[in-house]
Amino acid sequence: MSDSKPATSSFETGRREFMKGVAAVTGAAAIGSVSNVHAAGSDVIKVGLVGCGGRGSGAAMQAMSAGDDIRLVALGDVFKDRLDNGKKNLSKHKNFAVNDDHCFVGFDAFQKVIDNVDVVLLATPPHFRPAQMEAAVNAGKHVFVEKPMAVDAPGVRRVIAAAQKAKEKKLAVCSGFCYRYNEPTREMMKRIHDGAIGKIVTVQANYNTGGLWMNPRQEGWSDMEWQLRNWLYFTWLSGDHIVEQHIHSLDTAAMFMNNEYPIECVALGGRQARTDAAYGHIFDHHAVVFEYASGARCYSYTRQQVDTDSDVSDWAFGTKGRAIKRAFNFHQIEGENAWKYRGKPTDAYQTEHDELFESIRKGTPVNDGDYMTKSTLMGIMGRMACYTGKKITWDMAMNSQESLGPTTYEFGSLPVPPVAIPGRTKFA
Ligand SMILES: NC(=O)c1ccc[n+]([C@@H]2O[C@H](COP(=O)([O-])OP(=O)(O)OC[C@H]3O[C@@H](n4cnc5c(N)ncnc54)[C@H](O)[C@@H]3O)[C@@H](O)[C@H]2O)c1
Repeated sequence: MSDSKPATSSFETGRREFMKGVAAVTGAAAIGSVSNVHAAGSDVIKVGLVGCGGRGSGAAMQAMSAGDDIRLVALGDVFKDRLDNGKKNLSKHKNFAVNDDHCFVGFDAFQKVIDNVDVVLLATPPHFRPAQMEAAVNAGKHVFVEKPMAVDAPGVRRVIAAAQKAKEKKLAVCSGFCYRYNEPTREMMKRIHDGAIGKIVTVQANYNTGGLWMNPRQEGWSDMEWQLRNWLYFTWLSGDHIVEQHIHSLDTAAMFMNNEYPIECVALGGRQARTDAAYGHIFDHHAVVFEYASGARCYSYTRQQVDTDSDVSDWAFGTKGRAIKRAFNFHQIEGENAWKYRGKPTDAYQTEHDELFESIRKGTPVNDGDYMTKSTLMGIMGRMACYTGKKITWDMAMNSQESLGPTTYEFGSLPVPPVAIPGRTKFA
């Protein structure tokens, strides 16, 4: 596979068609405005996907649907079967223009994708996000970064630095914290920030669900392959489900609090029902109480246990009322300023890409670096409190030196760390 050839004939055909379309619809001025903002003066925005799984494929579809000037031209995945599967689905889109020599497999696939595109979509397990985002920004590429941004504090610090560098280089950084791009959520948050429920005293953030997918270990899989194919269940890869999944609730708490983040937290957690070794070593429940400088508290619960009741809802209790959010479409304020979202459902995942690409075209790149790193750290801080049984402050979490996972990646032996035990597991 080559990483140096420019886009090939099917891409060029698409590009010519796009140019005709733009000229017909909007005239030459629009062409000029588009060409100003992309690498190498191209009129087409070339997009590459790293991590061709479920979310990555969704993100690439949404990117391709964000304008006629967009072409998906490169794919990367650590596994060929995953790449082939993603490619098959993505090839149905009219803006798909990936040729075989732009399909890259292996741990270094991300760099080859980066080298061939203007915008990189990063949707691998979160462990890899900091290095991959840093490489993209260093190469001068715009990025869409799925949540969470990292699994440990060194990773968060790396993403903070990369997001700052992106700002200096006028590169877009769009986060996959999808509720930030959900119109009903935006409308509710605006009302809250305008005082609809008064001063917020308490937030409750719930992400309680059943079990998730697991791939039974196959003969011939090394430890590394088994862990990568079951990345949810290894803290070095996912951050544990408080960081990987509950992060949406914690980011919603941050939205309620108008981007105020907690100063400290205490927590309980454990591995009670999902104990089989096939599920790695993460916990199956966490309960964290976050304390804010303003005196507010956030009570946060997350559970992944089969045959238990699901509840994905976020609540803010204020001095004049309360607000309730359930997933994407239920948003309600009760009290003096009662309100309920009655508009049509919108597609937050599509809005992410519509706004990202529009910001690139306009030369005013979006930069979500601040909240996306802080919300990730809030999850990591909660996990640290659950694992250790100790009070963890924001500063302790931010300055932690604990770096999870191997420093070099190869398909070989990789022992599973022990399950954390509060009181015995030490903060690092
Ligand atoms: N915003 C949301 O609502 C949402 C929803 C689902 C997932 N996500 C996030 O998206 C990310 C991906 O989740 P998913 O559900 O698509 O997982 P997935 O397992 O379906 O896909 C991950 C892909 O990354 C590949 N991969 C693993 N390591 C790699 C590496 N080093 N280099 C290149 N490819 C690598 C895997 O082979 C796999 O194909 C996660 O961070 C997850 O938290 C976000």
